[in-house]
Amino acid sequence: TTGKRIIVAIDGPAGAGKSTIARHLARHFGLLNLETGAMYRAFGLKALRAHVPLDDLAALTELSKETSIRLEVGEAENRVLLDDEDVTGQLRNPTVTDAASRVSVFPPVRAWMVKLQQQLGAEGGVVMEGRDIGTVVFPHAEAKIFLDAAPEVRGMRRFDQLGPEPAQQPEEVIRDLRSRDQRDRSRADSPLRPAEDAVLLDSTHMTLDEVVKAAEAIVEEKLAAM
Ligand code: DC
Repeated sequence: TTGKRIIVAIDGPAGAGKSTIARHLARHFGLLNLETGAMYRAFGLKALRAHVPLDDLAALTELSKETSIRLEVGEAENRVLLDDEDVTGQLRNPTVTDAASRVSVFPPVRAWMVKLQQQLGAEGGVVMEGRDIGTVVFPHAEAKIFLDAAPEVRGMRRFDQLGPEPAQQPEEVIRDLRSRDQRDRSRADSPLRPAEDAVLLDSTHMTLDEVVKAAEAIVEEKLAAM
């Protein structure tokens, strides 16, 4: 059916619950779930490994030309192949997280990633999650959701995911998240912002179940109209 060709764009700041909601939607509607942040993270990791300064545009551009990043997409999770090595398990540490945000400000890096992402989503039938999906990668996506929540709430949710022996204090988690937000929102190229036709979901005072239901209803409505 045509419904299966839908593109669902989910954007929003760190810790807003994008991954969780994307995973639910993918499973519920039988779509592929593509996490674009993982691709920027993989390139951040590559830059760290190569000891390329994270603010050196020329060096990063050169590095990008000799880098292959592939996303192996599943309904539940994605594997990320950096130069054919599975680096999925290394992408979540704070150093890589910070590097991803830094390298993602540069237009040549973004142009490269956007092209890969457009190829991955070209057939439709996907939920794609990131910062600029509804604004840049797929401006004609049928369904666009912008997920947000107060920084303290997002920070505490992130902290709770760190497990029984957290490497960071809650204040540190919130501080890192705020500075990453600030960078993601203020960069000149494709800053984080809601597309004009995105539905805003602020989960500050919502339970996960409420957010899931609201997101499902948005996609349901778009599918019915296709
Ligand atoms: O979603 P995430 O936390 O895995 O993303 C990591 C970083 O990558 C984020 O701080 C900004 C960047 N990013 C981006 O610029 N555009 C995207 N579509 C996804 C992520």
